Order: sequence, then C-alpha cells, then structure tokens
Amino acid sequence: MRVMSEKEIAELRDRIHSMARSAEAKSDPLAWFEDLYESSEGNVSMIPWSRGDPHQFLVEWTESNNPKGKALVVGSGLGEDAAYLAKLGWDVTAFDISPTAIEWSSRIHDGLNIQWRVENLLDLPQDWTGQWDLVVEVHILQAIPEEVRYPASEKLAPLLALDGTLISIGLFNSSGEHSEGPPWPLSETFIRSIGEGLNQIALEVKKRQEDDTDRLRYISVWKR
Ligand SMILES: C[S@@+](CC[C@H](N)C(=O)[O-])C[C@H]1O[C@@H](n2cnc3c(N)ncnc32)[C@H](O)[C@@H]1O
Repeated sequence: MRVMSEKEIAELRDRIHSMARSAEAKSDPLAWFEDLYESSEGNVSMIPWSRGDPHQFLVEWTESNNPKGKALVVGSGLGEDAAYLAKLGWDVTAFDISPTAIEWSSRIHDGLNIQWRVENLLDLPQDWTGQWDLVVEVHILQAIPEEVRYPASEKLAPLLALDGTLISIGLFNSSGEHSEGPPWPLSETFIRSIGEGLNQIALEVKKRQEDDTDRLRYISVWKR
C-alpha cells in the first residue's frame, strides 16, 4: 500500500470531519461511513482506519486465550479482524452498516468462511441475542457521536452467550478534554459502562508498537 504524505493524511482527516458534520446536520450521523467507502472506489488508502492487519491488541489477546466458537465482529470495516479470527478457527460473522464495506470485505477475504452481513448495531436481529462466544468491537464506539454511542454500546453485552467474552478496543481519553472527532477517544467511565452487567476482567491502557504519537489506547475485556 502507498504511504500517504502528512498533507494527504491531514486532507483526509479534514474530509472525514466535514462528511461527519454534514451527516450530523442532516440528522443521519452514521450516513458518512457508506459515503466514504463508496466514494473511495476500492482505494484502500482512502480508508484511514484500514491497515491491512488485525489490531495488535486483538492478536495479543488471542495469543493468550485460545477458546474457539462463534465470533461476532461489530462494524467490521474492511474485515481484517474478522479474517484473522476466521483463520484461527473461529466461526465468524462480521457486520457493518455500510453495504459497500461488506461487499468490499467479502472480495478482499474471498475464500474464508465468514458470514458477511449488512446490519446496524442499533437494530440487530433479535435472534442474535445470547448467541456469541466472542463479540469484538474495534474503533466503532469511538467513531460515532455521543447521541448514538450510548444506545449502541448497550447493544453489545446482551449478545454474549453464557461464558462469552466481549472485547472493546479503541483510543483512550486520559485528559478528559473534548476533541473534535471522529474519532472521540473514550473515557474510562464510558468504557466501564460498555460491559454493564458483565464481569470486567481486564482494562489495559497502552500504546500500539508502531504508534509514534503520545496517544493512548485501551483494550477492555468482559465475561458473562
Ligand atoms: C472507524 S471504522 C473501524 C472499522 C474496523 N473495525 C477497523 O478497526 O478497521 C468504524 C466502522 O463501524 C461501522 N459502523 C458505524 N456505525 C455502525 C453501526 N451502527 N452498525 C454497524 N456498523 C457501524 C462503519 O461503517 C465503519 O466501518
């Protein structure tokens, strides 16, 4: 993949902020995701969160936890985490609100046994409740504005089967400062609320190996 210049990265960030603001102004705050995937016309470098690899924290978690079963990848983007779990032997369903992202992912990861679905976290099929041994959320809640972030986060815990595991990974807000998102780094209080009713077994705040900024990230893990 071609490495973008600082100027191109800044332009892409500005474009995303402007798409997000305009979607919010039209009272359809999640619409810009599909607009971004669609207008990227298959050019992965236009999708700033897509790195071609699974998230390092998810990889680390799987290295010390190796149960297998039914995994649900929430807001799967271009499918790197879903593909990684499928290769490990998980029975994976991955969903995203963007039809273009789902169609694109299914092409990139053609040949892997993954159920690709267009779904909205705010309105999931009822028969998904209590069905999943693993639910993984990477960079979704931090990418959606507060008014939908709270109702969206409440949808995660009920998806877990007995003994199931919920993982949330994202940017950590240690200063309490409000930033102009997306993304909006998440506070510890908010992160803890994601797994309401579950047992939080880990909350680690750390950096990713390749991070060259001071930004902190987190992984939080809960069990039912
Ligand atoms: C910042 S991206 C992260 C994508 C992927 N998880 C990753 O880490 O590369 C956020 C993703 O969440 C999806 N998304 C946002 N709101 C959603 C919702 N309500 N239901 C399902 N997917 C959603 C977007 O389309 C986008 O693909």
